[in-house]
Amino acid sequence: MNPLAQQLNQTLSGTIVDDMLSDYGRRMYFPKGIISQSAEAKQKATRFNATIGIATEHGKAMHLPSVYACFSPEMGVDELFPYAPTAGEMALRKKWLEEMRVKNPPMKDATVSLPIVTSGLTHAISVAASLFIDKDQQVLCPDMYWGNYNLIFTEQRQAKMVSFPLFFDGKLNIAGLSKAIDDAGSDRIAMILNFPNNPAGYTPTETEMEALAAMLIQKADDGKKLLVFTDDAYFGLFFEPDVCTHSLFSKLCNAHENILAVKGDAATKEEMVWGFRIGFITYGSKNLTEDQYAALEKKTMGAIRGVVSSCDKPGQSILLRAMQDGSYHADKAKGIATIGKRYAALKQELAKHAGDTALMPLPFNSGYFMSFVCSVDAEELRLRLLDKYQTGTISIQGKYLRLAFSSIDLENIPALIDTVYKAAHE
Ligand SMILES: Cc1ncc(COP(=O)(O)O)c(C=O)c1O
Repeated sequence: MNPLAQQLNQTLSGTIVDDMLSDYGRRMYFPKGIISQSAEAKQKATRFNATIGIATEHGKAMHLPSVYACFSPEMGVDELFPYAPTAGEMALRKKWLEEMRVKNPPMKDATVSLPIVTSGLTHAISVAASLFIDKDQQVLCPDMYWGNYNLIFTEQRQAKMVSFPLFFDGKLNIAGLSKAIDDAGSDRIAMILNFPNNPAGYTPTETEMEALAAMLIQKADDGKKLLVFTDDAYFGLFFEPDVCTHSLFSKLCNAHENILAVKGDAATKEEMVWGFRIGFITYGSKNLTEDQYAALEKKTMGAIRGVVSSCDKPGQSILLRAMQDGSYHADKAKGIATIGKRYAALKQELAKHAGDTALMPLPFNSGYFMSFVCSVDAEELRLRLLDKYQTGTISIQGKYLRLAFSSIDLENIPALIDTVYKAAHE
């Protein structure tokens, strides 16, 4: 094993991170060479600096004027063309954490790592899977989940996804997760929980979130070592007054030394920059020291460096500027309100079909989506909607039909729901 990896493992020894690292995670480190040599050169190489791996002219990044012309002249050349640091732009990481604390009051004073920039949330999940999940290891996950988890966990890491029903009796199935933990056959347990959920569009209520966190803390107290990855892709899109508006991460990040909370979130949907590819991974556990967070950060940087080297620079610079802009919060609120109006219209339309057993809406209160349980074949229904009504929907596992109300203009919601029910009855 590389001596740098050994050193990091030494720093982390005896902690929950030590318990949870995969074989890959144990071997990971961030090479010192280029970073430290470049830093030295920055201080002393006043004549020529031949260390940096980009092309420069008169101290600035070379670039094609035709590319630069696509950006606002306010953006400096060096905000766009050089590489971003492996862990992301420091100012953006600090700003993202500052906002995270505001959005999540329970973690206002918690000790957590600085968020590390990833290439979208997919990459954050993938990095965490590499660092913490071994071949054949179980990953607990509700039965309604984003399909890409199959590629990340099952195919790429050859882990075993073990699911439990997301709902029981129309409520969050906390007992189901508790049982899955007890049945796991190991005291070292990884799970991924996604709220607002894709495809169900469900976020726990305040009471449910409290009970969920309490259940996990109790398991930790009983000696289970838990890695809880919160996939917060749709964070902030909350449409009912009783919905918990902060992440499960904020309740777990300093809760217990046997819980390693890992928050995956992204600018992707929160800031409506889907194609920018900017996500974040943030760690929290009770009693981890600054040195230990730094060691975990180094391992994460190694995992990033070995796959994409570093993430998109222009996107990070644009996002940082926007987040520092006076209208940022108002702009965001406006976007959320627009989707919220579609949510309300959808609820109103669905109420007209209450009791119709052909399509039964699962509970939803947030996010982009809602799903029906279909008494007809969901794939057949999807194809009928597409071929006869030119209406695109997603069928899942042959029994659920998912609608993304986030992408339907308000005035079209009634016609969409009419069409879906009509096709189901046909
Ligand atoms: C639940 C969930 N997690 C993660 C992602 C991935 O987000 P990103 O586009 O930032 O990689 C998505 C995107 O659809 C998602 O639905």
